[in-house]
Amino acid sequence: MSGNSKNLKILVIHGPNLNLLGEREPEIYGSLTLCELDKIIREHALKSGVDVRIFQSNHEGEIIDFIHENRNWAKGIVINPASLTHYSYSLRDALAAVNLPVVEVHLSDIKKREEFRRISVIEPVVVKQISGFGWRSYIKGMELLIDVLES
Ligand code: DQA
Repeated sequence: MSGNSKNLKILVIHGPNLNLLGEREPEIYGSLTLCELDKIIREHALKSGVDVRIFQSNHEGEIIDFIHENRNWAKGIVINPASLTHYSYSLRDALAAVNLPVVEVHLSDIKKREEFRRISVIEPVVVKQISGFGWRSYIKGMELLIDVLES
């Protein structure tokens, strides 16, 4: 299937420091760059027949603005909140406010890392947290979101 035959529109959001993917602690986050990851995400969206808008920012407020601005376009969100996962009540409130299904994804397995990373303040407002599959976490997240949107 190609093009957006399903009329599904999703946002994929990358949080702080994910612009440095590939060079940032590759033993934890892998060697793929953000540009390469975004290409995989776009290809998967095309194959799945969905429209995708991808956004990365190092600034909490910019991510919140992007969610607000796209709330009437998008049908669902895949987000790697990065470090915001562990403390951002503003991001959590923004995700809850727009009332869209959200899948939280992480490259590394946050439940098996430092204690501060095991807590996600985002998790209570998401459909599911997918963690520890490297860049494949995003693909699993997109697949799950598409299933949710189609059910
Ligand atoms: C991360 C895990 C977070 O704890 C960390 O702050 C990140 C990336 C991950 O994808 O594994 O920046 O979200």
